[in-house]
Amino acid sequence: MNTFSSAPNSATSTATPLVNRLATQVVNGLLSVKPLANFAKNRARNLIIKRAESIGVAWRNDVKTLKARDTDTSFAPAWEQELAQLTNPKTSYPDYYLTSFHAYAEGNMGWEPAMEVEVAAYSVHAKIFAETGKNGDRQLRQTYHQVLQEYLPHAPQSIVDLGCSVGMSTMAMQSAYPQAQITGVDLSPYFLTVASYRHSKANINWVHAAAEKTDLPAASYDLVSLFLMCHELPQTATLEIFQEARRLLKPGGHIAIMDMNPASEIYSQMPPYILTLLKSTEPYLDQYFSLDIDLALQTTGFESIKQIANSPRHRTVLATAKG
Ligand SMILES: C[S@@+](CC[C@H](N)C(=O)[O-])C[C@H]1O[C@@H](n2cnc3c(N)ncnc32)[C@H](O)[C@@H]1O
Repeated sequence: MNTFSSAPNSATSTATPLVNRLATQVVNGLLSVKPLANFAKNRARNLIIKRAESIGVAWRNDVKTLKARDTDTSFAPAWEQELAQLTNPKTSYPDYYLTSFHAYAEGNMGWEPAMEVEVAAYSVHAKIFAETGKNGDRQLRQTYHQVLQEYLPHAPQSIVDLGCSVGMSTMAMQSAYPQAQITGVDLSPYFLTVASYRHSKANINWVHAAAEKTDLPAASYDLVSLFLMCHELPQTATLEIFQEARRLLKPGGHIAIMDMNPASEIYSQMPPYILTLLKSTEPYLDQYFSLDIDLALQTTGFESIKQIANSPRHRTVLATAKG
């Protein structure tokens, strides 16, 4: 734990009852055995696919169609050509990024995660709100934009979406601010290639870069948005990315961070062994949960920090770049 770690919530408390500590040790022990960890990952993946198909998301069919792109091959050759065009050969990948995420051994660096990320989001977000089913994902994005509409003093004209993935957060941003110039940044060229194909008519600047070092112009943006990105980062990376966001923003510009809310009932009461189990698919979740995000923002040049709950288990953190 470093100086940016907040006081432990009940999920990490030293006062954790013995039974929870034992359960955590058992889960940690089981996950350190590779075949068991792989079994847990496959099980998690199958559950997500099952849930998706039960709420009307045609996971397998949608992915098959995306891979083929109206060709009669199972994988359209254009994908590889476009990947080569979108890849910035100068981009370097931090070690923490080149690990397995979300039950994919290749993490974010492959076609399978890139083709499945959208259907996975519909599945994972289906149960956030009562009775939304596959529209839960859309509703989560809407609640974020309601917060932005309410708290930002002006509609932003220039926006960077850090960790834009296949463009779901970027397109929601464009619908909210149709006049704005929007740049989507991601480290996975696979995700960006899918974003650019899926949203080929949108006027978005897709950039393959680390959010820590985007090489975008300084003091040029009204809003830097991170939607569901921080829980995928070690704390040191979060701090570097906040510094980069501060560099990108005009004085008085805003950073907006939407992610899981560690203070929400669902997470603050989560038994620690479940958190450990989640680590098999989200390697930096414990670092995210223990980050003192207000302190991290203050230290990197932000003020007027607000946290607003926008779902039963998510929060939006808003802060202003100091002048
Ligand atoms: C959970 S996804 C968020 C997706 C997207 N914002 C959305 O709303 O659907 C996190 C994204 O952050 C990207 N990412 C993680 N670390 C990054 C970094 N250091 N620089 C740029 N992108 C990064 C991942 O490649 C992934 O696409």
